[in-house]
Amino acid sequence: MEMKDMSKEQLSELLSAAKKEYDGYKALGLALNMARGKPAADQLDLTKDMLDAVSSSTDCKALDGTDCRNYGVLDGIKDTKKIFCDMLGVAEDELIVGGNSSLNLMYDTIARNFMFGVSKEATPWKDAGKVKWLCPVPGYDRHFAITERFGFELINIPMNADGPDMDMVEKLVNEDSSVKGIWCVPMYSNPTGITFSDEVVKRFAALKPAAKDFRIFWDNAYCVHHLTDTPDTLLNILDECKKNGNEDMVYIFASTSKVSYAGAGVAVMAASKNNIDYVKYHMTVQTIGFDKINQLRHARYFKDFDGIKAHMKKHAAIIAPKFDAVIKALDENIRPLGIGSYNTPRGGYFISFDTLPGCAKKVVSLCKDAGVIMTGAGATFPYGKDPQDSNIRIAPTLPPIDELEQAMKVFICSVKIASAEKLLAE
Ligand SMILES: Cc1ncc(COP(=O)(O)O)c(C=O)c1O
Repeated sequence: MEMKDMSKEQLSELLSAAKKEYDGYKALGLALNMARGKPAADQLDLTKDMLDAVSSSTDCKALDGTDCRNYGVLDGIKDTKKIFCDMLGVAEDELIVGGNSSLNLMYDTIARNFMFGVSKEATPWKDAGKVKWLCPVPGYDRHFAITERFGFELINIPMNADGPDMDMVEKLVNEDSSVKGIWCVPMYSNPTGITFSDEVVKRFAALKPAAKDFRIFWDNAYCVHHLTDTPDTLLNILDECKKNGNEDMVYIFASTSKVSYAGAGVAVMAASKNNIDYVKYHMTVQTIGFDKINQLRHARYFKDFDGIKAHMKKHAAIIAPKFDAVIKALDENIRPLGIGSYNTPRGGYFISFDTLPGCAKKVVSLCKDAGVIMTGAGATFPYGKDPQDSNIRIAPTLPPIDELEQAMKVFICSVKIASAEKLLAE
């Protein structure tokens, strides 16, 4: 029976049973963490041989003879570029290989546009008056944090099953010249796991922004992170933008943080040649070049894009059972009670869980008191404010499966308590 159909007596009974179970977990002194989307140690071990891919000082030459120990080659060695160009479907002059973090490239791109504008001719965003920024929700907290820090006004855009609400995006972008950008995680999005449909990508590419310096931040962080043998597919946004004469409207980002090493991978940025030339014009003042030895390690180890694809199957073999364990626990314990909704991801790193309205903070706090750390309630919304207080991001990759199962017991018990208390109070 769903909880909403229960009598007060039935709810009270369920609540006291859940509280008793909860006290039992509390007594165990657990210390479990499902907060951040980190790869587990056995995933990091998959690439251990990569550390030996460049093994001596005589061995540091790229295919074209570039000595990777030395200065130079701002946009990355060709060996590595080729792999990422194939991955993102862009040309060599449309891509920069950066350091170890795509988030860093995103931050720098916002900072560059803020200080200098999107082109040599454009007005810097700092001088443009109010800057509004569109944030599909629930979304990635670190995206929102960047645009919040720059003082932009963040506007929530609801996520549908096929991507952001495009009617709302079109209206805001095409009619309001203070709207300068939007965050997008177009494949296996963080946290909802949604991949944008072809129609949504085409509508993005066909936007007619009121602001000529409007930019789409297309963070394709999970483009190769499939959990099934029948991967989602995503249209190439740069190609679609070119068809509409809009090729300067999008910046694409990706990294190997969850392919090789989260702390020592390789990040890339792709865009029109025009945009890339402009980025390099500023970047050349910022740095003489990124870590080319790490780029070489990645190129030697993976060899080509097929190498990356094959490698990602090994990740899926480790993490898919963890996602399955979470979904199984929710299917068995939450679905029948009707006290939460969630997605079953086909890729990416997260499960997005919605409690009954007004229960998320309570659930996260109950979990914390029983030693289970979840991502803070509200974190998936700009300013940390979930208007419904219902979304919780579950990150199942880091804990070993037995710990995950234990953490899910605490989580489920906490959802039951918060839901029963809410319904009893109504
Ligand atoms: C959507 C998204 N983008 C970017 C990142 C971080 O990327 P990087 O490690 O390349 O900075 C994450 C990490 O969780 C993410 O979920």
